[in-house]
Amino acid sequence: MTPHSPSEERHLVTTPAALKTPTDLERNAIRSVADALNALLADSYALYLKTKNFHWHVSGPHFRDYHLLLDDQATQILGTTDAIAERVRKTGGTTLRSIGHIARLQRIEDNDSEFVSARDMLAELHRDNLKLVEALREAKEAADAAGDNATSGIVDEWTDLAEERAWFLFEASRGS
Ligand SMILES: [Fe+2]
Repeated sequence: MTPHSPSEERHLVTTPAALKTPTDLERNAIRSVADALNALLADSYALYLKTKNFHWHVSGPHFRDYHLLLDDQATQILGTTDAIAERVRKTGGTTLRSIGHIARLQRIEDNDSEFVSARDMLAELHRDNLKLVEALREAKEAADAAGDNATSGIVDEWTDLAEERAWFLFEASRGS
């Protein structure tokens, strides 16, 4: 058997028989929805922790505004994660199991820098939220192709939230 390359491996979803939720959706199509949702979930956790990281480490004259804005955004991101994972389970797939699993699937990069200026934090989170919008679009396309209407509908809500976060970050990062 040919070994899978890392990029193939990260998209493979295997579902043990005991965890196969019955669904009328077609198996291959649902696997690609599950892959898209699991990658989206990993990105969401990565973005959640980065937003909290910046909430904890932001500094400067706008400290209070940014500290509170980032906390609101982190709470909002975390609030979507359970629903993302449960869409995967409802449609017969399996989802994330560990921080290591997140690290293997995430496409939003961590930022472990010792110091990031407030302006750079906002700009980076703005870009990351737009990346999340792309991931959501990918999930929506997979859901539509699979006839998975419920995922397609709920993805619209998550997209609206990500666009709202990007808007706030953009406006807050503009020079006055
Ligand atoms: Fe806090």
